[in-house]
Amino acid sequence: MICLTLLIEHPDIAPPLPIMYTQAMAHPKIPAKVITEINRQYNQELGSAHSYRALSLWCEDQNLKGFACHFDRQAAEEYTHAKKLGSHLLDRSVLPETGPIPAPKHTFKSLLEAVQHAQAMEQANTQGINVVYETALGVKDYPAQVLMHWFINEQVEEERWSTELVERVQGATCAGSLSDLDRHVERLLAERLLADEKEAGQE
Ligand code: FEO
Repeated sequence: MICLTLLIEHPDIAPPLPIMYTQAMAHPKIPAKVITEINRQYNQELGSAHSYRALSLWCEDQNLKGFACHFDRQAAEEYTHAKKLGSHLLDRSVLPETGPIPAPKHTFKSLLEAVQHAQAMEQANTQGINVVYETALGVKDYPAQVLMHWFINEQVEEERWSTELVERVQGATCAGSLSDLDRHVERLLAERLLADEKEAGQE
């Protein structure tokens, strides 16, 4: 009884348990390096959305309505990618940091330059995703690793369609074939995606 009274009246010799509990509450379990990389990629995805919007507007201005529609859809998709990363941080009690987004490239010499720009952007996104994954692996952050599996798969698809676009535009060597490609670009990309999914389902 005497001992208990001493502990209550003398904070210097109070048991350490409440302190440990406070520390656990103050520091989220997600490692700092992973927070930094997910935040960086979150902002990179927002930047991609911004860039696809600029690509869409340029195509529309060139009367390439099919490409404009495709890039507009990509802008929305990039936004959902950013949201997925932000939600992961929020789910783990970390507030995502929305940073400034640089002005995107908004004029192009040709459609080929525009689709090559999209392809380079997707390659950069893949590199960014890989950095997040490698960081999560390095510090054994399993939830972030599982999240990044989804993004790694997604980038296979993103790089595939962006490469196909470049190849198709390179193959459209006259105004007529370019106009034809513009009219059918969405259907052609969707057909390829469906064929891939069917093939994956048969494996
Ligand atoms: Fe979110 Fe197209 O990468």
